[in-house]
Amino acid sequence: MSELTAKITTAKEYISKFWEEEPVAGIILGSGLGNLIQEIERSIEIKYSDIPHFPESTVEGHSGKLILGYMQGKPVVAMAGRFHFYEGFSMKEVTFPVRVMKALGIHTLFISNAAGGMNPAFKVGDLMIIRDHINLQPEHPLRGKNEDTLGPRFPDMSEPYSRALITAANKIAADNNIFLHSGVYVGVQGPTFETRAEYKYMHIIGGDAVGMSTVPEVIVAAHAGLKVFAMSVITDIGIREEENVITHEEVLAAAKEAEPKLTLIFSELIRQL
Ligand code: HPA
Repeated sequence: MSELTAKITTAKEYISKFWEEEPVAGIILGSGLGNLIQEIERSIEIKYSDIPHFPESTVEGHSGKLILGYMQGKPVVAMAGRFHFYEGFSMKEVTFPVRVMKALGIHTLFISNAAGGMNPAFKVGDLMIIRDHINLQPEHPLRGKNEDTLGPRFPDMSEPYSRALITAANKIAADNNIFLHSGVYVGVQGPTFETRAEYKYMHIIGGDAVGMSTVPEVIVAAHAGLKVFAMSVITDIGIREEENVITHEEVLAAAKEAEPKLTLIFSELIRQL
């Protein structure tokens, strides 16, 4: 057994002592988007700091605990707070929880994030289904000797975001009068927001929104054979020519505002699993 698989097993066994159920889905919630966990019933919480080999999160708006319980009757495991490369974690650390959730039994991973919009049709507070991504982050979570028991050396990335889940989400949104964009998420390392020239560049290369998370977790999920559904809340618009200073507070406020719509979509998708 490799060092990584040994760590995954230790963390999984620790969590399983508190909850015998096998979760069907994992949920990773972004900045200002932690309220979904209130929909989780009969839940137990485990602090990241108590789980062997788990990193500890450091950002405001990320509370740092694993929540296990039932959503729409389905056993789920949710991360309130995630790990970012800009905090100083390696990509192996950032993605470790995805490995552990897979070991716990999940088949599907749901991810939310706050993102900056580059598509001129986007407004603050809009929701975007991520249909594809561009990875501009400087370290790859799969770099190093491949662990064949975890996934293939050269994983296919032609469809990391489940088309079936995207179709189902669009139906849920239409039934509930929720307007959704679908687009390409550009993953960057942060922690600076982008310059105007960088937002413009990212739009030219095919990006609709940009953020500092999600891509590493999606890569590891694809490696592990998990189905993924991910959505961005557009919390700021980078490409405006007028004055547009972006602050973390503004990002959190816009995320809060859009959160109920996102919660409804995630919750309904989980019900349909
Ligand atoms: N850029 C990068 N990350 C972000 C942004 C942004 O504009 N908004 C929220 N997260």
